[in-house]
Amino acid sequence: MKKQVYKERIIYQIYPLSFKDANNDGYGDLKGIIEKLDYLKDLGIGMIWLSPIYASPLKDNGYDISDYYKINPLFGTMQDFDDLIAEAKKRDIKIVMDLVINHTSDQHPRFQEALKNKDSKYRDYYYFRKGNGKKPPNNRNSAFSGSCWEKVPNEDNMYYLHLFTKEQPDLNYQNEEVIKEVENILRFYLDKGVSGFRCDVINQIYKTNLENGKFSLFSRGREHYENQEGNFKILERFRKEVLDKYDEAFLVGETSALTPKIGQEYIDRRALDMFFEFDHAFCKSFKLIPIFKKPFYKPKDLFKPIFKWQKEVSWIGAYLENHDQLRSVSRFGDEKEFYKESAKALSIFLLSLKGTIFIYEGEEIGTLNYKNLTYEETNDCMAKNAVDSTRKILHVSKNRAFKWVNKTVNRDHARAPFQWDDSVNGGFNEGHTPWLKINEYYKEINVKKEKNEDNSILNFYKKMIRLRNESETLKFGDFEEIKSNNYVAKFLRKTNNEIFLIVVNLSKKTFKDKKLDESKEIILSNYEKHNKNVLKPYEAIIYKIK
Ligand code: NOJ
Repeated sequence: MKKQVYKERIIYQIYPLSFKDANNDGYGDLKGIIEKLDYLKDLGIGMIWLSPIYASPLKDNGYDISDYYKINPLFGTMQDFDDLIAEAKKRDIKIVMDLVINHTSDQHPRFQEALKNKDSKYRDYYYFRKGNGKKPPNNRNSAFSGSCWEKVPNEDNMYYLHLFTKEQPDLNYQNEEVIKEVENILRFYLDKGVSGFRCDVINQIYKTNLENGKFSLFSRGREHYENQEGNFKILERFRKEVLDKYDEAFLVGETSALTPKIGQEYIDRRALDMFFEFDHAFCKSFKLIPIFKKPFYKPKDLFKPIFKWQKEVSWIGAYLENHDQLRSVSRFGDEKEFYKESAKALSIFLLSLKGTIFIYEGEEIGTLNYKNLTYEETNDCMAKNAVDSTRKILHVSKNRAFKWVNKTVNRDHARAPFQWDDSVNGGFNEGHTPWLKINEYYKEINVKKEKNEDNSILNFYKKMIRLRNESETLKFGDFEEIKSNNYVAKFLRKTNNEIFLIVVNLSKKTFKDKKLDESKEIILSNYEKHNKNVLKPYEAIIYKIK
């Protein structure tokens, strides 16, 4: 039986650009990550997932790879990467790489060759197609807005396909050579000692055909490229040809547009070991329409999709934050009066769920969205594209469009340099202007300060992580939802020997419940003092049922 290390450890996502800049050039780097391994070990982390560190022009911050076998010089060298693996191993921390194989960068030599030379065999590594009259080959659009076809310069009526930015041309998985190349990449990093891969948009890699898509505002044509049989087959092949030959290799899929049934199929066919669902990430917690002052969000909008997946699939990657999402306290908690309580409540909620828990850098110190971020300060290509399309559709000013985009989908909120202390640039580096501005809250919210405060969010995460690491029930117990209200989540985690009840109030309301504490022992709670049978604002408790 292969080891399933990914089921036992908490995974911490590092966004290398922003984690720690050891050489003070404004960009985070691998040496910086090595410096902070002890911090992660102390936190209780058993595995780190590195967002892409490969050579890249960074049009989409590394999700556009120009050489899969080279480390981006901004991050360091292959030797630094080998050192990171060795240093992590010393501390029993495993490494997960980001595998971005739906597309390459347009600067990848194979794509460059395909662009320049019509007869190159690399044309068929991608999708080059003739236009349909004056129009692109089909009506599909890119996830980052606009058509998913870009004109090939200096060639008449020829286009290439890109589901994301035009600098990210899609690879053709009907071409055997492409599949073989990916298998070699997998082997290369597994041989180095990497434990697994987080696979970018992995349920979209196989395009069954290039017919027009059904009408839809977003991702038109997805019925021809999402969760196709060909997609399963490729992943099954990776498993058989590569992963099965390594002791503990695993794949976690980034898979939007999934149903629990399809998600379970990925697991049952061993196409993936687990995946991320996106229903809760799209839940209506935003001020969706700029004219509404208050969002019509209730915490149940978050609980409901999460619980659906908890109940319906055997294993999952559970998360609240990643590099594409707003900060969870800003979104689901309270930035002001109940800031600490709400951050801790979210920690109890997340770390009590079934599946492998993913914590995103900064989540453990309660990082908030930027207070103010302007269009000019924004780096995120998707946010900028969203501003353009909002302007086109709603005919509003750039400012107005940006205001809305910034509140809802600007991914830079999660990408600000990490807040290590209250010194210049929050201790991210020694003072060189960072690639993205420092979050305004760094003096109040940082590791150094929180380490020294007994009741800090960081110290609470540590406690909660320890509890999870030591509890078979939290790691492997079954999940059962208990009916609750719009504001309070209640669920059980059970094994044959033990039952935990988790109660999480994600609102400012107080609730009384005569039976709340009946026959129960409190294992962990986010308030110093719990009033019997009362649930205070953002109070969260893990009970053991007697
Ligand atoms: C998902 C990644 O998480 C996101 O950051 C990226 O922009 C797209 N895939 C395209 O690779």
